[in-house]
Amino acid sequence: MTERTLVLIKPDGVARALVGDILARIERKGLTLVALELKTVDDELARRHYAEHEGKPFFPALLEFITSAPLVAAVVEGPRAVAAWRQIAGGTDPVEKAVPGTIRGDFALSTQNNLVHGSDSPESAEREIAIWFPDLDA
Ligand code: CMP
Repeated sequence: MTERTLVLIKPDGVARALVGDILARIERKGLTLVALELKTVDDELARRHYAEHEGKPFFPALLEFITSAPLVAAVVEGPRAVAAWRQIAGGTDPVEKAVPGTIRGDFALSTQNNLVHGSDSPESAEREIAIWFPDLDA
């Protein structure tokens, strides 16, 4: 079934010039880009996006990181897009969970600065896409 999911290439991915590589992996997998934007995020948007992590020890540093420099936000579409993008991205911990061949497994060492974000379920994708691209289906 066709789904949409939110893709973030976080500030570390932009700073390390990995945007082209990451988008190429998405396209080669067969997912379709339906929205794409380079933007610097304010504290309010970052808090809405990461609301489920509020109160966790890493939350203040995560907000600081995600608002620190431009990131790329995108929506991609395809069959089982949520799981497909999470498969390409690799696990959150890039050393102990992400395997080689995934974006995090190939390019990241830090659990915070882990290059990319993907929605964790179709319901999260719907919520997150509405935050980042409120006019997408307008
Ligand atoms: P992401 O997939 O965007 O979802 C939540 C983010 O919080 C995660 O990627 C990391 O950037 C960050 N994060 C999750 N767990 C930790 C942790 N234990 N320490 C630091 N940052 C974390």
